Order: sequence, then structure tokens, then C-alpha cells
Amino acid sequence: MSLYENDWLYDLVHEKPADGEDLAFYERMIERYGQPVLELACGTGNYVVTLAAKKVDMAGLDNSSQMLGAAERKSCEARVESNLIHADMRDFDLGQTFKLIFVAGNSFQHLNDVNDVRATLRSVRRHMDADARFIVEVFNPSLELLVRDPRERYFVGEYRTDDGWIVINENVFYDAATQINHVKWHYRNQYAKEESTVEFTMRQYFPQELDYLFASNGFRIEEKYGDFDEQEFTSKSPRQIVVAGKP
Ligand SMILES: C[S@@+](CC[C@H](N)C(=O)[O-])C[C@H]1O[C@@H](n2cnc3c(N)ncnc32)[C@H](O)[C@@H]1O
Repeated sequence: MSLYENDWLYDLVHEKPADGEDLAFYERMIERYGQPVLELACGTGNYVVTLAAKKVDMAGLDNSSQMLGAAERKSCEARVESNLIHADMRDFDLGQTFKLIFVAGNSFQHLNDVNDVRATLRSVRRHMDADARFIVEVFNPSLELLVRDPRERYFVGEYRTDDGWIVINENVFYDAATQINHVKWHYRNQYAKEESTVEFTMRQYFPQELDYLFASNGFRIEEKYGDFDEQEFTSKSPRQIVVAGKP
């Protein structure tokens, strides 16, 4: 089963504090580049709902109905009207343009090959105002993490639920030919006998490759940050955050 058919597990691990550094970064970007804003692969709406609640003119798009269902529920709980769209970021047509489009939380790494990236960048360009920006945030690939033994299980974390504790361990297999890291999370509630498994893939984007993909698909990179503090990207940075516009 895919992790994204399991919205509650995703949120258990990823739900972010409303005042996190990442959210503050996207708020600064909205202030700088304007609205309306579109988040691609918005998942359970952690950004969409929080930003819509702060009166940002915000839409979110995702291709998982389970993840969007969770976003709808959060929206209702927060009494916020969120514009949530069920579509694939590789091919969408909303009949509208935006001042800012972003893909947060490493979701761009679910684009498994160069054709997926090309198709996504083409769709994004069609939805950008002439002076709009597109922001992508991905990991700076860690060679140390990619060479982990696929037979071993590595501890991910322990999470509190209404039903007690859930422990998650992972297996990872990195295929260097495709640059795809295949991840399996094995989890079990402390009272359950049976273990469950969810899977997802994370395509690795090496720094020069990422820059080339933007440049060769009609984008001009204006900034490349290494983290949410907007410091310049270096080999030691945890992330690559690209801010790109049309040339
Ligand atoms: C890391 S999660 C979402 C993160 C979200 N930004 C957040 O902060 O909660 C990745 C999301 O990408 C979505 N996704 C993966 N491939 C997609 C595609 N081709 N088009 C649209 N959404 C996609 C998944 O359904 C999932 O909800």
C-alpha cells in the first residue's frame, strides 16, 4: 500500500507546527511575490489550510483522494474554505494563472524521471503570470543515507496516537541507475500483533542536475537556498530550495 492511501499515518509523522520555519519561509515568499498561490502535491493540506486561514488566496492540488479528504476535514475543522483540486501535477489545467506556485516537503521527489519533470514544468509554466515565481524544495542528496543496507531496518520514530504508541522502522533500497530511493515503512501499534507496511519512492535530484532541469525547461533560477533561513546553497546544506521565474 502507498503511504498516500494512509493519510493518518502521514500526518502522524509529518504534521507541522503552525509556526514552523518552513511555514514562515512560505509566508515571506507570498509577501515577496504575491497572490494567488498554488501548492502542488499539497497532501493533507498542512500549508493550504493554515495559509487560507491567514487569508491567503490559496489553492492546493494533489492526486490522492485520501490525502485531499484529510485536507477537507482539516478545512472544515478550521472553518476555512480551501480550494482543493484533485489532479496530477504532471498534467493539469485550471484555467487560471498564479503569482506563486510551490511544491513543498520534498513532494517534487515523487516525480520519478526526467519526463515527469518536463511535463510538470510545462504545466506549471502555463499557470504562471509573466512575473510569477515557482519554488521547489527537495533534499540535498545524502550519500551516507543512500548507501544504507537494504536488508537492515532503521528506526524512524515513535508516535503517540489515541490507541497508544506506534513504532515505525524503515527499509531503504537506493537504485543508483534510476536515482530512486525505494522506502518501506513497517509499523505496528504497541497492542497489535500484526505489522503493516506502506511504501513510497523518493527520486534523488543532484544539485547540478536540478539546476539544468530548470534551465532546459524554460525557467531562470533566481535564488537557490540551502534551507528555510534563505542562506545560499552549499554542499553541506540539508535542502535545495529553488526560486525560479520565467526568463
Ligand atoms: C510529502 S506529501 C505532501 C506534503 C505536503 N506539502 C505537506 O506539507 O503536507 C506528498 C504528496 O504528493 C502527492 N503526489 C505524489 N505524486 C503526485 C502527482 N503526480 N501529482 C499530484 N500529487 C502528487 C501525494 O499524493 C502526497 O500527498
